[in-house]
Amino acid sequence: MRLAEKGWTKLKAGNLVVLAVFVVLIGAAVLAVGAELQQPPPVQLTSEQDHQRMLDLLHISSIRRGADGDPKSPHAANYDEAKANADAKLPDPLILNNGKPVTTAKMWWTKRRPEIVEYFDREVLGRAPVHTPKVTWEVTSTKKEMNGDVPVITKEIVGHVDNSAYPQITVNIPLTLTVPADAKGPVPVMTEFSFDPAFLAALAKRGVKLPPTPPGPTWQQQVLAKGWGYAVLIPTTYQADNGADLTEGIIGLVNKGQPRKLDDWGTLRAWAWGASRALDYFETDPSVNAKQVGIEGHSRYGKAALVTMAYDQRFAIAYISSSGESGAKLYRHNFGEPLENVAATNEYHWMAGNFLKYAGPLTANDLPVDAHELIALCAPRPVFIGGGATDGDGWADAKGMFLAATAAGPVYRLLGKKDLGTTEFPPIETPLIDGDIAFRQHSGGHTPAPNWPTFLTFASHYFKTPQ
Ligand code: GCU
Repeated sequence: MRLAEKGWTKLKAGNLVVLAVFVVLIGAAVLAVGAELQQPPPVQLTSEQDHQRMLDLLHISSIRRGADGDPKSPHAANYDEAKANADAKLPDPLILNNGKPVTTAKMWWTKRRPEIVEYFDREVLGRAPVHTPKVTWEVTSTKKEMNGDVPVITKEIVGHVDNSAYPQITVNIPLTLTVPADAKGPVPVMTEFSFDPAFLAALAKRGVKLPPTPPGPTWQQQVLAKGWGYAVLIPTTYQADNGADLTEGIIGLVNKGQPRKLDDWGTLRAWAWGASRALDYFETDPSVNAKQVGIEGHSRYGKAALVTMAYDQRFAIAYISSSGESGAKLYRHNFGEPLENVAATNEYHWMAGNFLKYAGPLTANDLPVDAHELIALCAPRPVFIGGGATDGDGWADAKGMFLAATAAGPVYRLLGKKDLGTTEFPPIETPLIDGDIAFRQHSGGHTPAPNWPTFLTFASHYFKTPQ
């Protein structure tokens, strides 16, 4: 073959290779787009429709209505302790389902705890998926600033959730982390589930008056005064607070836009999942002592904080504020908000679908577990349970939360820790912070603010400021 011919053949072969690669790439792209198109968009249901769908799956035609906060309503919630069923028999956290007593820490960890977790998973809160998509954290800004008179470093961070399995839904987790600028080493961090400012503005617009914040340093400044850092997570950024959006957010992404099964996770567990992912990030950030990260939340986020602490044993401490029904309050203590309200269309999304059956035909007394066992799942780690006075925070039922805290005591003791130290409901504003379960009822209404100083004193028994 002549030289020129040889070159020509080479060139032709080269072109063919390029062409082949090109064809393969186009083919792959077409297939990928095709696959995405084949996946239906997220199902759109109203909360009412999705709620009804759950009832249909449960073969329940109707459930009992919730109670009204207004004492003049014919359906007023009970605020009479004498009628609250305070002596209800609670499921025993230290008796196995087969009736055998749990006598050792090993039996708790290997046998009883998994039984309780299974009940909460199946009947109450729903199961978090075994595999959730990977979250990649990106620090989008770092700035030096002042908080009061403390120089701090604040990072804005975003967790990008891998949505390649279902690109129709995008989920991001924004997180803010602030640490003292002159810290001598990695600091303990308190993480708060915070309300979206837009949600608070909407409440104010509806005329809902929130209790005034007490004068003095903010909770963040109180945390900084200890030499610790703080972080803020807004859970509604990755899972909206309603039933209509259960096919969106992280729950929708994992379910590829389809509605939930009866034992699928509800919003409380999804919110808790986000906090766990934030802790994954903290484990990679040298300014944070990831072994000393706490979680705090108020009201619905008090519930989420308790769920976070119960399910993720890496969290070192929790401040559970006014968490009420489906939080630290006993379901069986009929005072303030009853179970039926949480099963209604505006709150059921926090829970598993299976939970609805306890609002009809079953009742709170039929639940295989109660709130004391959710607190027990936090053992042996320290938990502070707070609430406000009945006048202002009766809906959250401080006494019901106290009773649950008391009933979690045997599990703490079995694990070598200290319980509340009393079974007598303390006078208002009396801190019980000498054990590993702590409690205080403040007089300031439905707000976490008045208990922050007491919580931080309690937390100082555990958190160490780098010297
Ligand atoms: C409602 C709801 C409570 C919840 C509270 C809140 O009152 O019934 O369960 O804790 O909202 O989150 O503010």
